[in-house]
Amino acid sequence: MTETSTYAPKPEFVAQANVSGMEAYRELYRRAEETPEEFWAEVAEREFDWFEKWSHVFEWNPPFAKWFVGAKTNVAYNCLDRHLKNGRAQKIAILWEGEPGDERKITYQELHSMVCRFANVLKNRGYKSGDRAIIYMPMIPELPVAMLACARLGITHSVVFGGFSAEALKARIKDLGATVVITADGGWRRAKEVKLKAAVDEALLECPDVRDVIVRKRTGSDIPMKDGRDHWWHDLEEGVSSECPAEPVDAEHPLYVLYTSGTTGQPKGILHTTGGYMVQTTATMRWVFDLKENDVYWCSADIGWVTGHSYIVYGPLAAGATTVIYEGAPDTPAFDRWWSIVERHRITILYTSPTAIRALIRQGDEWPNKHDLSSLRLLGSVGEPINPAAWEWYYRVIGKQRCPIVDTWWQTETGSIMIAPLPGAIPTKPGSGTLPLPGVLPQVVDMSGKPVGVDQEGFLVIRRPWPAMIRTIWGDPKRYESQYWGRVPGVYFTGDAARCDADGYYWILGRVDDVMNVSGHRLSTMEVESALVRHPAVAEAAVVGKPHEITGQAVCCFVTLKQGNHDHNALGTELRKWVAHEIGAFARPEEIRFTEALPKTRSGKIMRRLLREIVTTRTVTGDVTTLEDLTVVTRLAAQRDEE
Ligand code: WT7
Repeated sequence: MTETSTYAPKPEFVAQANVSGMEAYRELYRRAEETPEEFWAEVAEREFDWFEKWSHVFEWNPPFAKWFVGAKTNVAYNCLDRHLKNGRAQKIAILWEGEPGDERKITYQELHSMVCRFANVLKNRGYKSGDRAIIYMPMIPELPVAMLACARLGITHSVVFGGFSAEALKARIKDLGATVVITADGGWRRAKEVKLKAAVDEALLECPDVRDVIVRKRTGSDIPMKDGRDHWWHDLEEGVSSECPAEPVDAEHPLYVLYTSGTTGQPKGILHTTGGYMVQTTATMRWVFDLKENDVYWCSADIGWVTGHSYIVYGPLAAGATTVIYEGAPDTPAFDRWWSIVERHRITILYTSPTAIRALIRQGDEWPNKHDLSSLRLLGSVGEPINPAAWEWYYRVIGKQRCPIVDTWWQTETGSIMIAPLPGAIPTKPGSGTLPLPGVLPQVVDMSGKPVGVDQEGFLVIRRPWPAMIRTIWGDPKRYESQYWGRVPGVYFTGDAARCDADGYYWILGRVDDVMNVSGHRLSTMEVESALVRHPAVAEAAVVGKPHEITGQAVCCFVTLKQGNHDHNALGTELRKWVAHEIGAFARPEEIRFTEALPKTRSGKIMRRLLREIVTTRTVTGDVTTLEDLTVVTRLAAQRDEE
């Protein structure tokens, strides 16, 4: 297969699609481009409830945007109450499967009651609009319940992925100024307990502002409960009403903060607000996933990442969909767990990552082939470029050459999918996100902002604000301005390199900043370096992403040591563990290389570019890199460094 093979949408799919045919897409795109305010107002009016209407749709004080200015609404209201009035009360909202095999089917009516009850719990303990809550939970239904309960009251939440360590959790609690932590005793992953409450206890040793810890019982393991601070979720819910009116909040009210890695050691809190976020995530849900009333939709991401926020919780629930949540690992009890889920629940739409696909390919076709996957009608991919071999397998072995694949490009900052094929309209080319969605104006430019030509590599920028975009970095508007709007004059800088072909299709080449992409999770080289130099034996560290057959990139560390006799083998193992403890298990380095010195510029800056070249040119395996011209990325990164 070559880069240029094209797959046209099948006539049967086009015939039933929400956006049917290329003309329909072009028309939608044209309207959004020419009259964006009318376009988005129409989307906003069509399916959402607003307690008060906006005075105008859009306000732009660069780089600060407001959408649906002056309007009042509530995301939880739109995800729940609205569906009780429109005939979805008995429809399953959340179809959940725990790793041990337990199952829960929660209707919109039931979810509404659960959310109201928990909102009342928060209210009874004095939490109100403007407060901040940290949510650190396993993938159980109470995680979205906690998010929606916060949204219902106007409490800004920050979900911290359960794979983050106590250290990382602490940093987020502090930066956000959270006063309540919602957690669980633990969760199940590969039949082992992930001990969440223990990490909370460790983190809270240094967070005096947290008044309450609310603990959902999941694993039933023995955990200490601190008097006055820790409460069982079920105790607090006793006798509490299952009615709780949704607080009308401003369209620009902070819905959530999600921390992601930047180019420094400090993670940045990406702020998303209410109205624009709700409107665009729901609209893209309908466009990209071609969502229909009877779909059983499953996004396999963790809710702790933005994919889970937008496309497990808020997008699907606002659209009135049935969203499937699976708690555990894809290989537990065996490598066909996912395919068994697809078969048993008759999943129609599956959204996952190239890393997961590659990991499953490795186990062989016999696992999916044991199951009836005929319910599937659409497949999605997100998080990193998908290499042609993985695309082809996904298409053939999972989709049986029937299901279109939507490769969706977006970021924590964009809130919604930005570049992706509309499956009933746009022919796909494996490895390309294809064309921008309505309202999205991307461009590939050089550092001065000048568009580069067809098929030329450059920086991917977005030329116009969009409803679901990041509003600021929590507590650091200057960093927001300089990171995203100060790089290339007047436009949003994505941090990705890309090229655009003669058909206008976008090909993402990778990050141009010091951000790695490991299993579709963003990780900063600097964050890992800071963790390493906190170890007493380490003098200096430089970290780069190295191509990896399964995870796309893997963490590779170059380390110089302080004086003394060191056992490199033992220390290597120890440092890998150390990083996992400091950041989280998903950040555990693949490789530690001890070296006498690190390459530096005359001004003392570590030349990561050289290290990147060393690890990429020497160890490239498989076909992962066929899309990612790493020398291009490296060159572009160098160009940026020299700015
Ligand atoms: C970075 C954003 C939002 C999804 C989860 C990751 C890379 C994301 C694709 C894709 C090529 C992709 C980019 C982007 N990326 N999707 N379909 N094709 N690259 O969110 O952690 O904010 O990372 O992931 O490099 O900038 P994130």
